[in-house]
Amino acid sequence: MGRKGIIKIAVAGGLGHIGLVQAACLAEKGYLTVAFDSDQSKLLKAQQGQLPFIEAGLDELVIKNLRSERLQFTSDVDQVGEAEVVFVCVGTPSLPSGEADTSSVEAVVEAVARNRQKPCLLVIRSTVPVGTARRINGGLERMGLSGEVTLVSNPEFLREGSAVSDFNQPARIVAGAEDSLTAERVARLYALPQVPMVITSWENAELIKYASNAFLAMKISFINELSRLAGKTGCDIREIKRGVGLDPRVGPCFLDAGVGFSGPCLEKDLRSLICQFDHAGEKAALLQAVWDVNEGQRVRLIEKLERELGGLSGRKVTVLGLAFKPHTDDVRNSHSLPMIKRLLGKGARVTVQDPWLITPSRVDLGGAARDLEAVVWAKCPYEAATGSEGLLVLTDWPQYRSLDLVRLADLMKRPLVVDGRNLFDRAEADRAGLEYHGVGI
Ligand code: UDX
Repeated sequence: MGRKGIIKIAVAGGLGHIGLVQAACLAEKGYLTVAFDSDQSKLLKAQQGQLPFIEAGLDELVIKNLRSERLQFTSDVDQVGEAEVVFVCVGTPSLPSGEADTSSVEAVVEAVARNRQKPCLLVIRSTVPVGTARRINGGLERMGLSGEVTLVSNPEFLREGSAVSDFNQPARIVAGAEDSLTAERVARLYALPQVPMVITSWENAELIKYASNAFLAMKISFINELSRLAGKTGCDIREIKRGVGLDPRVGPCFLDAGVGFSGPCLEKDLRSLICQFDHAGEKAALLQAVWDVNEGQRVRLIEKLERELGGLSGRKVTVLGLAFKPHTDDVRNSHSLPMIKRLLGKGARVTVQDPWLITPSRVDLGGAARDLEAVVWAKCPYEAATGSEGLLVLTDWPQYRSLDLVRLADLMKRPLVVDGRNLFDRAEADRAGLEYHGVGI
């Protein structure tokens, strides 16, 4: 036991979207928590309470627990040797094939196992393909390192923008291990006795994560496929959502039609799950259709603009929304990036606006930076719409819902709006003089 019997916990990938939430929230629960990460510049800033991304309520938690010295940051894996529990929260990005790259998970597990000063629970929080924990455990056994380390699979279900509240009020806690007592010990670390626990095997815990995200993606593609019929038959997809979602067996969540799902998780995990089916010699026909419908939404929105304008070459087009969802500054795998690239590729002149991402310097565009060099960045939606011949709404920021549509129509050279998030009221848009196109409405 650590100081005064307090369990010492380490979090690998401690500055990531998952790891930093894990470390700060566990420290808040009273654990001595060491968040370790290899990114020195991020570490130095985090030690001053400056977080590498925006997440509601996280900065207060980090600052409070730094002050109480329950939370520490380090890049030195030696400091992890004392921990009784190590959470692995490193990324598992997509390889070109769509498979999840688990090399960071494997590297961290081996480094921690080699560095042990006492036995520990090594808890894989990262999303990893089914069979990963068993495969890694076999590797540890072959290296003679499994005696000190006990592997547990403990997937997270955090949404960006609400990760802290999702951490503290989860719908369930899933923990998989070779023996149920070990799995239960990890589940009880969260000190949430009223929350249902799923104590199961490594494989079941790993697949529960993928199945959960794939099901959410499927709901979105379901409503998006229906929106195409709704749009052709005078229906309003939002009414369809209401009528179907009131069935408690369905529920209203993840039935908002629009440009579709994107971001760092749903697409990545869906692609990885399809690959896992392939590796198992099975065809994931339904999951492939979920993917195809989602890709089709982006194409259809741009085709709508192109058709209405008689071509995009030389046209000034405004894109509202860069982040993959509101209340986040995360553009990782956001649908906006490939769609802007496609617009530029068709010769359009693109102006972008996002409430939290006002200038390129504020955005970690990663590989997309070059693609977006030609983009003009506007400070507000009205500036972005001035002289525009087509406006494409891609992120459902609440700020956009209250835009003055009459002013928009006056500022635009062609008052053409393709609302990829069904934010605006069609009747109000018509009254304002906009040529309004929604998704299934
Ligand atoms: C998701 C899962 O919700 C979460 O449980 C998992 O742990 C990580 O992946 P996140 O990626 O943060 O969370 O975002 P989410 O809120 O799920 O939205 C994902 C995408 O789906 C966004 O682009 C969002 O705009 C889109 N979406 C969501 C829809 O298009 N329609 C909807 O009805 C809901």
